[in-house]
Amino acid sequence: MKEKIYIGVAWPYANGSLHLGHIAGCYLPADIFARYNRMIGNDVLMVSGSDEHGTPITITADKEKITPQAVVDRYNKEHTENMKQFGISFDLFTRTSTDNHTEVTQDIFKTLYEKKYVYKKSVDSFYCNSCNKFLPDRYIEGMCPYCGNQNARGDQCDECGKLLDPQELEEVRCKICGNTPKIKTSDHFFLALSSFEPKLIDWMKDKKHWKSSVKKFTENWLKSGLNDRAITRDISWGIPVPLEGFEDKTIYVWFEAVIGYLSASIEWSKKTGNENKWEYWWKDPKAKHYYFLAKDNIPFHSIIWPSILMGYNKSLDLPYDIPANEYLRLKGEQFSKSRGVAVWVPDVVNNFDVDPVRYYISINMPENKDTNWLWEDFVTKNNDELVNTYGNFIHRVITFTQKNFGCIPKQGKLDKLDKEAIEKIKQTSKKVSESIKKCQFKKGLRTAMNLAQFGNVYFDKKQPWTLIKSDKEACEGVLHICLKIIKALSVFTAPYLPFSSDEVWKIIGEKESIHKCNWSLALEELKVGTVLEKPQPLFKKLSLEDFMGETDPFSKADLRVAQILEVKDHPQADKLYLMHVDLGKLGKRVIVAGIKGFYKKEDIKGKNIVIVTNLKPAKIRGITSNGMLLAAEDDTGVVSLLNPGNSTPGSEISIEGISRDPAKVLEFEDFEKINMTIGEGLKAEYNGKVLKSEKGEVISDKPVKKGAKIK
Ligand code: MF3
Ligand code: ZN
Repeated sequence: MKEKIYIGVAWPYANGSLHLGHIAGCYLPADIFARYNRMIGNDVLMVSGSDEHGTPITITADKEKITPQAVVDRYNKEHTENMKQFGISFDLFTRTSTDNHTEVTQDIFKTLYEKKYVYKKSVDSFYCNSCNKFLPDRYIEGMCPYCGNQNARGDQCDECGKLLDPQELEEVRCKICGNTPKIKTSDHFFLALSSFEPKLIDWMKDKKHWKSSVKKFTENWLKSGLNDRAITRDISWGIPVPLEGFEDKTIYVWFEAVIGYLSASIEWSKKTGNENKWEYWWKDPKAKHYYFLAKDNIPFHSIIWPSILMGYNKSLDLPYDIPANEYLRLKGEQFSKSRGVAVWVPDVVNNFDVDPVRYYISINMPENKDTNWLWEDFVTKNNDELVNTYGNFIHRVITFTQKNFGCIPKQGKLDKLDKEAIEKIKQTSKKVSESIKKCQFKKGLRTAMNLAQFGNVYFDKKQPWTLIKSDKEACEGVLHICLKIIKALSVFTAPYLPFSSDEVWKIIGEKESIHKCNWSLALEELKVGTVLEKPQPLFKKLSLEDFMGETDPFSKADLRVAQILEVKDHPQADKLYLMHVDLGKLGKRVIVAGIKGFYKKEDIKGKNIVIVTNLKPAKIRGITSNGMLLAAEDDTGVVSLLNPGNSTPGSEISIEGISRDPAKVLEFEDFEKINMTIGEGLKAEYNGKVLKSEKGEVISDKPVKKGAKIK
């Protein structure tokens, strides 16, 4: 009863580092599912790759003043490496810039055009007169007509998740220059989504196994009626439209990215030397196609991709399940590259063993609701569960057995508790299987951990350290059962903890990698007589201080945008101002600032500045300053405030690649470790990285010399 399991995992944009939100959203659940399915003997094909086209990439390239190609090359390389380091076991992780992907995409585009599912229509698009170009959706911002979010993008509102047409936005502005764009006419190609409506409704009928969130979202979309959508753009970075006269237009990034699921399978086939092997998964109606992604990607997988496949009409399999996850947040904030609130995968793989991180994300997986990445909780779960329960059980059993017997002892006569243990192993095998099959990964891991817990209780009750003196044979029997539990545990945790489970597997004398072994081995006999080595502890205890101490000093500071409400003279000092500032959600504050010699009161009232909000309050000439503003000073004595653009008061200043983890109270000496300066283009920098606000880069308000110190 071997099944064919195809696993497509959302393609990450090659425009920034991966963060743990990505891992929790789709890569880890997909990997657990893939590893488990391989272990039960199913034929698994799991693919993904870098999403390299479209405006997310060009926006990054513009910001960094490099070519889009340089951006995608950098991140494709980094992502490929990170996936491997994180143990995400893709059969192929490719990219959308391959010739193969272009061919497959253009073929599908042309086929849909011939079948009239893609048609030409002239449309009004936004054109920015000051930038001299048509503005792609992502270059347009405005107010979402559904939820009122002021910063909705032309293609989607991140607050309510609605897909948008830029024309629907209110108060539109050009993201590049901030001007109001004008409408201009040009020809584009549309996907006739509306014509797939009946088929989609029909296809949805047997999707009873879908997560309710995914089902509801999709059903609501279908209920509100499908609109045809433009699938070409007036930008040059992308796959050219394969029709004469339209070569200067490109195919919309989402239309082609989802096609990656198919093109990657074809590429994988070619690489294995059997060109048609992909059909084994794609042309068998019994094959099950799973798509792993986070919730913002649902409509593309539950509506758009199925429509494309239906229109292409080559009997290719449609999605079977789309177990989309919610978000993993860092202290309640959504992980997001643009806002810089993240735990970055390149940092994580450099500083931690991967399995403990996989453990914490799995046990805390945002399957049905958003969850939080909490460093304290990570440490606690690592220490209490992974080290003290799971690791400790294995360690004490192996150490004791090795010391007293040197090898795996034989089974003894079974009493009630022994039988219970064996039954528990069987039940756990079943329950973990059921959970993983239903994509309930958290529950699966909990169940496996219960067995480890049981193991500890069993060991304590049986007291082999007493038995060894009174009844050696009985002692052997007890250890045999313990080792049986260990064997089973390494199988059950293999999908979750791929590195350490394999280590345990080797300790108990197995030669093959556990990832090549069958799940059923969990219940099979031990290799009695296998010589045991003195074991090393599997997991390390962590302490918050250890690694928090190593984090960048910048992460401890809470830098925010403040708006100056009022400026007064300090009654006791000539050079100081008292300033009332607004920090939005954080409230209003009074700060004392020594900029009187450089700025007139009326010139700064209303201005946005950057302040350190968590610095220990200091009394300055009798008045307490609740925060400190940041200003640059060069060696000619020019002093300039920092300008965070028209960001929301209270919004955060961050640096890409440095996690924000502000101290409750920042000591002045810790603040002094953060050496910020003014770099090229008046940008505020720290260690060569630019400080970012909600609205872009933080710059010096006045011209100061490069190298000016910020304090
Ligand atoms: N790059 C998209 C994102 O990060 C996901 C694309 S998934 C695929 O949101 F469907 F296009 F493959
Ligand atoms: Zn513009």
